[in-house]
Amino acid sequence: MAGTAHTSGHREVLYVIACGSPLARHVGRLVDLAQQGGWDVCVVTTPDGAKFVDKSALIRQTGHPVRTHYKNPTDPDVLPPADAMIVCPATVNTVNKWAAGITDTLALGLLVEAQGKGLPIVAVPFTNVAMAAHPAFQAGVARLAEWGITVLFGADVIALHPPGTGEQHLYAFPWAMPLAALRSVSRSAA
Ligand SMILES: Cc1cc2nc3c(=O)[nH]c(=O)nc-3n(C[C@H](O)[C@H](O)[C@H](O)COP(=O)(O)O)c2cc1C
Repeated sequence: MAGTAHTSGHREVLYVIACGSPLARHVGRLVDLAQQGGWDVCVVTTPDGAKFVDKSALIRQTGHPVRTHYKNPTDPDVLPPADAMIVCPATVNTVNKWAAGITDTLALGLLVEAQGKGLPIVAVPFTNVAMAAHPAFQAGVARLAEWGITVLFGADVIALHPPGTGEQHLYAFPWAMPLAALRSVSRSAA
């Protein structure tokens, strides 16, 4: 685990799931760090996440298609199966739906299924202080953590920003943090 090679020789597969936040624009940095750590990385976005990412650049960087929508029933799977997932940025919307078990986006379907399979999952909500105050989101974060998802959230992890200032907080984002958390989950599971 944590980016090691299987005995069959192929690298472990990490799905990086990016939701609809400006932080998704920089998700290539997480891809880069994960690749340096030995992971074969695939990027999945939510439909709103797709508006923020540079899809062509991510396809070049990962060597895999960037998936956003459920495939048609007879289409083949174009991504290798995941060994672990990082949701970053995780929006308030996706956290709330995930905690309710809703699977109306490919990203949510993959997460709900991965949770059922017991795969290691790290989620990093990125939002402003006002959206984060909603009780459904607070409850969603707590529920996901109770269920064994590693949720990196709170003032001690990433300071919440005032509404309308998210763009100013993108460059300082600690992209290595979710990977370090994933390594800890994997170590404790071993
Ligand atoms: C410019 C812009 C920036 C946004 N930034 C955030 C954000 O940082 N965090 C968040 O939770 N929602 C943010 N939103 C709202 C989400 O994009 C919206 O809730 C959307 O429905 C999320 O869908 P998804 O969870 O499927 O990605 C932003 C919306 C826009 C238009």
